[in-house]
Amino acid sequence: MDRIRTTVQEIFELESDGHKDARDLYSDEMAGFFIKTEDGSYTLLSEQRENQSETLHSIHGARTEAFEKFVIPSKLKELADEGAEVIKVLDICSGIGYNASAVLDYLKDSNVRIEIDMVESSIETLAATLFVPNICESHSYIKKVIENYLIEHEYLQFNKVLSSLPQNITINIHVCDAREYLKNAPEKEYDAVFLDPFSPSKSPELYSIDFFKKLKEFLTPTALILTYTAASPVRSAIVGAGLYIGEGPQVKRSGGTIASRFPDNIDTPLSFSDEKVISLSDVGVPFMDSDLSDDFYTIIDRRQNIRDRIRGVTVFPSSNKLPRYLGLDPEKIEDKKLRNKLNNYVKEMGFSAINDPRILKILQVDQNLPSRSQIIMLEENLHNVLDEMKNENSNNDE
Ligand SMILES: C[S@@+](CC[C@H](N)C(=O)[O-])C[C@H]1O[C@@H](n2cnc3c(N)ncnc32)[C@H](O)[C@@H]1O
Repeated sequence: MDRIRTTVQEIFELESDGHKDARDLYSDEMAGFFIKTEDGSYTLLSEQRENQSETLHSIHGARTEAFEKFVIPSKLKELADEGAEVIKVLDICSGIGYNASAVLDYLKDSNVRIEIDMVESSIETLAATLFVPNICESHSYIKKVIENYLIEHEYLQFNKVLSSLPQNITINIHVCDAREYLKNAPEKEYDAVFLDPFSPSKSPELYSIDFFKKLKEFLTPTALILTYTAASPVRSAIVGAGLYIGEGPQVKRSGGTIASRFPDNIDTPLSFSDEKVISLSDVGVPFMDSDLSDDFYTIIDRRQNIRDRIRGVTVFPSSNKLPRYLGLDPEKIEDKKLRNKLNNYVKEMGFSAINDPRILKILQVDQNLPSRSQIIMLEENLHNVLDEMKNENSNNDE
């Protein structure tokens, strides 16, 4: 990404100096930065953080991912079919615009106005979109809007993208940290939010409990937030922010997460096993960023410090997937070493074994309730049981 950044900056400089051919001159070099994914669409390699970089999309298919993880499960078609006049989408981390272009494709036969706010922090990634080999007409609309933005903001000066946006489509580009966008955005309600940052360990600022709380203010009653990650800290942040939660679509190896203001909008609950991990163990500690302005290391370290402090004290350790085994008869675990380890973790907290009656009491929740309610109940049960144990211990000491 560093090389893409430098190359795009060179293109900006040349074109600003009046070189009409700047983009053509660099088109081969720019093409070399794109990686073809399995469905024929393209992706880019990200900037490095902690010596790691990710591609912007799944190598199984960037465009397929846009449709299957974001656009189809967002239920926007249903909304259009029900006669909505306008559909508003917030595309957070818009990258090279595949998610936005998939929305346009998906709704192209619907007689509906479409308004998309694309939010992307990297001007270079945004500009790289102009060099993505053409994959469909809707993506050329996105390119046109991006070119207009870059001309308006004096990065470029020539109109080269041969496309014009249909009248029913409005696309607004916002180049900034998505947290800044939300803090400064005018009151608005979106019908769907695509949350497509890098993984939580790379972009924790966009998965914090505080970020989801802010996002909640921008949702219509039926809106869904869609993200491709199923990570426990993200899921617990969603619940902590007061949202309902469910399983995202399973595509290839990976799942995802869906969130909404009301339970009726969620089709598939989380598994009880996942709910236990989120509510009862240290891996469920969410990222926190109360002013929506902390830097990467502050957010990562804050969560790590809390995990270290409460693991094995007020929550079960997540080691060896302990939460998933809670409540099981230990004798059913064939691997003796694992069985001992799991029992020892809970013994250190004062339980007799992973199926201690007090652990069974913690797990007593109505599994017909929405996942959000079950997670909250599990947390409450855990606190109550630990409090009871503490009181018993202090009575015994007296
Ligand atoms: C996985 S890619 C998104 C791909 C994109 N949705 C698409 O359809 O092409 C993640 C993007 O998030 C951007 N990003 C990272 N942190 C951000 C932040 N705090 N605010 C806004 N964008 C951010 C990156 O520059 C990158 O382009």
